Amino acid sequence: MKNLKLGIFGFGCVGQGLYHVLQQSNAINSEIVKICIKDLNKPRPLDKSYFTNQKDDLLQNDDIDVIVELIDDAEAAFSIVSTAMNNGKSVVSANKKMIAEHMEELLALQEKNKVSFLYEASCCASIPIIRNLEEYYDNDLLTSLEGIFNGSTNFILTKLLTGGQTFDEVLKEAQNLGFAESDPTLDVEGIDPKYKLCILLFHAFGLIAKPDDIFNYGISKINTFDINYAQRHNYSIKLISKCRIVDEKIEAYCLPTFLPNDAVLSQTNNEYNAVILETAFAESQLLYGKGAGDKPTGSAVLSDISALNHDYKYEYKKNARNHGKLALCEDFKLR
Ligand code: HSE
Repeated sequence: MKNLKLGIFGFGCVGQGLYHVLQQSNAINSEIVKICIKDLNKPRPLDKSYFTNQKDDLLQNDDIDVIVELIDDAEAAFSIVSTAMNNGKSVVSANKKMIAEHMEELLALQEKNKVSFLYEASCCASIPIIRNLEEYYDNDLLTSLEGIFNGSTNFILTKLLTGGQTFDEVLKEAQNLGFAESDPTLDVEGIDPKYKLCILLFHAFGLIAKPDDIFNYGISKINTFDINYAQRHNYSIKLISKCRIVDEKIEAYCLPTFLPNDAVLSQTNNEYNAVILETAFAESQLLYGKGAGDKPTGSAVLSDISALNHDYKYEYKKNARNHGKLALCEDFKLR
């Protein structure tokens, strides 16, 4: 097993989560060389010598094998990740927006530079959904993938349905717990889960779709009438993201949905996420786990670093993915 030398961009919620899981996990052979941050004056749990605000201290550093990109800004992240791959470094990223918007270019960079680009933490945090899609369904045709892909909105909806707090109070709580994005409209308007849906569309069906092509509707307009209606009829309200094959095309959307209280996804509460897969032979399967938060997300980043220790690379198994054969169904495109 190699001893991977890590250069980490960003030390916010996920960066610190990764630091703590790396500290507590003795199964992984890696060490942090440098961490690039904006503010060198903030108190940190590691010695000052680990930190820099100069990107090149990581990107041009021959001692670093792997760049772990955990920043917010998708365009800055794309520049970092592209430079890293062009410099022969493998990359682990949690940046769903960057990946959803630049999937094609990122795949080409990985191919051209013969490096690995892994991003398990970008979708549903602790749930190993990408690895499962890549590894498990070669011989069992996947027909549908749906679920709850955003922890913050699920936390908000859970609290609203159990009563007592306002939307703004619960959103604030989700922000304080580190679940929400820095710009929480991305959560609340269903944009963050749509990025995740784009990424999963590729791993489930080989389809590269742009976020702008997928219909999303968030939870900001859910009102007391909707909450009362759900409570009276024994429904939950969940922000459901879904993609499925229909007549050789793919429907994909992200929408708030009433579900009977005994439906599997109604049992997925607070910051938990869940993914239901429908396949030809295995039929229905459920993956469930924490979809936001420092250590759950850090655990997914850790799993990618660990996979790189074994030279893991997505192979994009083309037959299983129907690669290039399926298009997005026009009826569900964003207009
Ligand atoms: N804001 C995101 C969520 C974080 O609430 O799901 C994890 O991607």
